[in-house]
Amino acid sequence: MADRKRVGVLISGRGSNLQALIDAHAQPGYPAEIVRVISNVPDVFGLERAKAAGIPTAVVSHKDFPDRESFERAINAQLEADGAELVCLAGFMRVLTDYFVSSWNGRLLNIHPSLLPLFKGLHTHERAIQEGVRFAGCTVHFVVPEMDSGPIIAQAVVPILPDDTPDLLAARVLEQEHVVYPLALALVCEGKTRIEHGTVRLSGVKTVMQALVNPQASLA
Ligand code: GRF
Repeated sequence: MADRKRVGVLISGRGSNLQALIDAHAQPGYPAEIVRVISNVPDVFGLERAKAAGIPTAVVSHKDFPDRESFERAINAQLEADGAELVCLAGFMRVLTDYFVSSWNGRLLNIHPSLLPLFKGLHTHERAIQEGVRFAGCTVHFVVPEMDSGPIIAQAVVPILPDDTPDLLAARVLEQEHVVYPLALALVCEGKTRIEHGTVRLSGVKTVMQALVNPQASLA
């Protein structure tokens, strides 16, 4: 495909979401091409996944820079050299400065393991179970300077079960992360998302018209 968008992916770890993006980009007709995977941590499994797929990698360690912005400038230099048009954060564990976020304004995506705006930050599954909410999920959103905020592109919902542990719930959510991240990236690449007044307007997509109830107890 000639007009595939060139995408850089930033990781810090195992890279299972990266793998979902790699698998999608390998599909004929997928509108994005991953041109570079950058990790701020050396020797993480995500880098192996990229190499196995023949995708160029780079390690840009935050420890080699005096401050966040110089670290981010080094990442940006690599992304620019690769001609990246969009950037996906996939388990990238560094807080980004306004400098980086504004240089990719409207072109920087993140996946977060909760139904934002609920449960921003860490330990989302533990907190969801503690709160007793009946559904959890994940969110792909455009990144803005405020952490885990920003216009929402796509979400997936899973039930929380009575005997859930944070690990069980995390695994159930992660399975959906791998569905929703490639989907959200495709929507952006195909020009089906438009940011208007801080939210994403979608065009040319179907939305779900089905209510979910948890638990499924009857009134009989
Ligand atoms: C995922 O749960 C993602 O939502 C969060 O960090 C985790 C990364 O996992 N931002 P992986 O490295 O993609 O397997």
